[in-house]
Amino acid sequence: MMRSSTTAFTAVAASLLTFASASTLTSPVLPLIVRNPYLSTWLANAREEPWTAWPMLYTGQSVGLAVLASVPSTSTVYPLLGRPQDSLDGSASQYNVSFPEYLGAQYDASTTNLSYSIPSPSGGGSESAELILSFLSPISPTSTMRQSIPAGYLTWYAKGSFDLDIYIDVNGQWVSGNRGSEIEWSLAETDHADAKHLKTWRVKRREEQLFTEWADQAEWGTLHFTAPADVSHEAGTSGLLRQRFSRNSTLQNAVDSELRGIMEEEPVFAFSKHFNLSSRRDDANTSSVNEASVLFTLAHIQDPVVQFASARGLTWMPSDSPTTTSTSKNSTNYLDIAALSARQVLGATSFSDTPQNPILFLKEISSNGNSQTVDVIFPAFPFFPYTNPRWLAYLLEPLLEHMLSGQYPNLYTMHDLGTHFPKMTDHVDGNDEYMPVAMGEQKNVTALEAEGDDINPFALPQDLETKEGITALDNAFGGPAAGPHQARRWLARSYTLWKQWTSYLVTYSRHGISSRKAPINLADCV
Ligand SMILES: *[C@@H]1O[C@H](CO)[C@@H](O)[C@H](O)[C@H]1NC(C)=O
Ligand SMILES: *[C@@H]1O[C@H](CO)[C@@H](O)[C@H](O)[C@H]1NC(C)=O
Ligand SMILES: *[C@@H]1O[C@H](CO)[C@@H](O)[C@H](O)[C@H]1NC(C)=O
Ligand SMILES: *[C@@H]1O[C@H](CO)[C@@H](O)[C@H](O)[C@H]1NC(C)=O
Ligand SMILES: *[C@@H]1O[C@H](CO)[C@@H](O)[C@H](O)[C@H]1NC(C)=O
Ligand SMILES: *[C@@H]1O[C@H](CO)[C@@H](O)[C@H](O)[C@H]1NC(C)=O
Ligand SMILES: *[C@@H]1O[C@H](CO)[C@@H](O)[C@H](O)[C@H]1NC(C)=O
Repeated sequence: MMRSSTTAFTAVAASLLTFASASTLTSPVLPLIVRNPYLSTWLANAREEPWTAWPMLYTGQSVGLAVLASVPSTSTVYPLLGRPQDSLDGSASQYNVSFPEYLGAQYDASTTNLSYSIPSPSGGGSESAELILSFLSPISPTSTMRQSIPAGYLTWYAKGSFDLDIYIDVNGQWVSGNRGSEIEWSLAETDHADAKHLKTWRVKRREEQLFTEWADQAEWGTLHFTAPADVSHEAGTSGLLRQRFSRNSTLQNAVDSELRGIMEEEPVFAFSKHFNLSSRRDDANTSSVNEASVLFTLAHIQDPVVQFASARGLTWMPSDSPTTTSTSKNSTNYLDIAALSARQVLGATSFSDTPQNPILFLKEISSNGNSQTVDVIFPAFPFFPYTNPRWLAYLLEPLLEHMLSGQYPNLYTMHDLGTHFPKMTDHVDGNDEYMPVAMGEQKNVTALEAEGDDINPFALPQDLETKEGITALDNAFGGPAAGPHQARRWLARSYTLWKQWTSYLVTYSRHGISSRKAPINLADCV
């Protein structure tokens, strides 16, 4: 029975998501930008310095994401993330390549921080500067709308008494799994209502292939990489841009317009930011330490939105994590695992459909790419009562709809909705029937409506709520008064299935494990 009030789950979620203690578990990989199965970038070598390997997608395939810092007063450049040093040649004597001191990674449920110390150009005992690359992939249980935004954020925090420049680039591997794909790009400069001027790189495959994957990556969709206006920008060949920044601590505000393949004179899309830390504020004393920060957004947008709404079915979730069992006795480690799991669970999912009838699709990650796999939903299950139980209903919805429509002949639940995401058109038992939930313009809701209730008890309101200045919040649901009623309405729509599965369990538990999976025909059973 779903009997939770918004307040109750918010409180629990808040304690899960905001524990302040520092993370201590040393995970072999850490999430960087992880929002859905197609926006899933990880630190591959989290037990070593972040510049010893390229970041990776969950598949293990590397992805271009390079960060460099430069101290202009000594022409010294410091690789921070990725392997940008491979394109640099310190012996060219226009700059020196050095490595910072890596202070390690800290994380909570939404954030991974990588911290560095950059030595002072004055040498000796002078204070070094501290730099944090802070990757945020928000977990927002109180706002389904915010959770469904396919974007992650990177903030650079710099603190010190000497000037620093920082550089970042991404490549075309964010929009295709095939290194041979032709891509196109552009820079958009936009003014927004809040008067902030922004620069956005837009990168996509020249020929997008709707609902097609290559090595588990989406071959359609556009990467939007956004920065504030006070950065310099440049698109061009990776090595040239990194060398130019190393020499000159800035970029040329130019866009290489020769469209080409992802690894053909590898085009990258770069921003660099000057941190003016040496200047003294008027009222400051000598040896003042200044702080500055800059925020970037990385969004992977798949359109048209209508297809996003009706045809998504990804899930990404390692179904067994050996670390969990071996360390769960240590409560600190357990908290760390819970924190890391939050992005892992939601990173396997993608919200879809309308607020009146939301659906959460799930891709089986790190295995075979099945859609909506029941034995993957099972281990992910505890996450949902703790964060937003309504999301669990959204996750079961496509399975219930499909099985209610009578397309699955067995008395137990189907294993998955499709053998490979995002096409939920297959069937475990080889019945390749049209699966309206995944690929159709419209879901087949006839079967549900037949149950006599066409309003989803867990629908989101037309007007989302605002509380304490935070917009787009879900409305309250559940609670002692409304909860049982809503749960009954939700169950009524699929009651025949729950009853059928229970009867199956009762019947076959008696006969022991050997017959557990015996396929039986519905007709034999009635
Ligand atoms: C690189 O470092 C060496 C040794 O510290 C120094 O002599 C040289 O001037 C530096 N090169 C540049 C371009 O700053
Ligand atoms: C990451 O760094 C920022 C800036 O210092 C800080 O506000 C935030 O609490 C840090 N997060 C974690 C998980 O350490
Ligand atoms: C070096 O940077 C300056 C601005 O600081 C710019 O005017 C100049 O064109 C740059 N040179 C090169 C070769 O990029
Ligand atoms: C650094 O900041 C100070 C104080 O805001 C300003 O006067 C100076 O022009 C800035 N320098 C650069 C290179 O931006
Ligand atoms: C500068 O130093 C003086 C004396 O130590 C102190 O009273 C004052 O608050 C300081 N000002 C700032 C802006 O830190
Ligand atoms: C639990 O983890 C902490 C931090 O890593 C460690 O100091 C402590 O020894 C661990 N305790 C046990 C019982 O393993
Ligand atoms: C939708 O489901 C109903 C009820 O199961 C069925 O009669 C109808 O044929 C289905 N329509 C489509 C297009 O699959």
